[in-house]
Amino acid sequence: MEKRYKGFSTKALHAGWDHDPTTGAFGLPIYLTAGYKFDSVEDAMSLFELKKEGFTYSRIGNPTVNAFESVISELEGGVAAVATSSGQAAFNQLLVLLCKKGDHVVVGRKVYGGTLTLLLNTMSRFGVEVSVVDTDDPNEVEEAVRASTRCIITESVGNPGLNVAPFEELAAIARDKDVLLVVDNTFMSPALCQPIKWGANVVVHSATKYLSGFGNIIGGVVIDGGNVDWRASNKWPEFTEPDAAYHGVVFAEHFGNQALAAKLRACTMRDLGGCMSPFEAYLLWMSMGTLSLRMKRHSENALAVAQFLQTRKEVAWVSYPGLEDHPHHARAKKYFQGGFGGMVAFCLKGGIEAGKKFLNHLSLFSIVANLGDARSMAIHPASTTHSQLSREELQKAGIEEGLVRLSIGLEDVEDILEDLDNALNSI
Ligand SMILES: Cc1ncc(COP(=O)(O)O)c(C=O)c1O
Repeated sequence: MEKRYKGFSTKALHAGWDHDPTTGAFGLPIYLTAGYKFDSVEDAMSLFELKKEGFTYSRIGNPTVNAFESVISELEGGVAAVATSSGQAAFNQLLVLLCKKGDHVVVGRKVYGGTLTLLLNTMSRFGVEVSVVDTDDPNEVEEAVRASTRCIITESVGNPGLNVAPFEELAAIARDKDVLLVVDNTFMSPALCQPIKWGANVVVHSATKYLSGFGNIIGGVVIDGGNVDWRASNKWPEFTEPDAAYHGVVFAEHFGNQALAAKLRACTMRDLGGCMSPFEAYLLWMSMGTLSLRMKRHSENALAVAQFLQTRKEVAWVSYPGLEDHPHHARAKKYFQGGFGGMVAFCLKGGIEAGKKFLNHLSLFSIVANLGDARSMAIHPASTTHSQLSREELQKAGIEEGLVRLSIGLEDVEDILEDLDNALNSI
């Protein structure tokens, strides 16, 4: 009998894998195999025709990858998940699944730059239309939705302002207009926030970040909330009508509430590739066991850092959803449990020069263009990732010259604060 557990940490440790029934191996094996030996031609046929569950080829599914998919789906409160080679691949596959030429997507202005460039530079070349709006403002979102809109994309917490999405209002618009609400939950992880609980239909992650937690892999995942009634309208024929690209299967019938994940795997992954490797899935499955402990410590350290920065004269402003003066603090308290995440943004009064000095005088923090690592990291966009932009362009992108983004790690908080104190004193 399949065991079901209530507690987040218990699920994180027990979902997805128990032991190998053949050898008794308790640790999750890394199934480094491309193919799977079929018992007979008939056996192969029933697998390919989706009459029987099992593995055919590791681009479509692999037992080690499946262990990670099962645990992350359970932790997010979804019904199924499909792991991908990166966060970008997760969005790319999802958009290819949902959109065709002439379809429309509404996306938040403050989402990760890579999500915007994927939509505006690449998907637009294939005829997908895009409206970039402020998803903090539900009215703006509602006005942007058209008959051809397929999804609204936002992030649970955006970058660099650390704005918190108004999940319930966006979900109400999505339900009303028969479009999907897609939430990138990378910054929070399911340990702190479960967007499906608040009405999201699909959750996407860059697993590269907190899910991994150690900055040692690139990966992504799409989680199906299982809460769309595909047959309620005639807007989703790809799920409700026979699919000529897959033996005439009607995905909503055959897979019920797992139709989105099933089609993503059977058709989009089959056609685009971009699957997760078993080794990465193995590391991710192990990291899930410590996710809630890590997110709690990231959050405690980040709150202490945010409060410390607020006391410093060199600092113009600090943004952290856990601070009472953050404009979305009330929303964050409602939607997040157990902490407000590990990301802190702040602005140095001294602009570019102060930012450079600050970064160069950090010693515990590393200058790295990543986040969600166990080790603390800092980035000063104006002198690094965005240094090619002019002052006007920086302003247009909403990046102040003194803006610093910190990814607070799991070190002892006294060491973190001492490092920040030294670097601020250098300015
Ligand atoms: C919020 C967010 N979503 C998606 C991505 C893309 O993920 P990946 O780098 O794993 O492709 C990133 C990367 O930084 C991100 O920060």
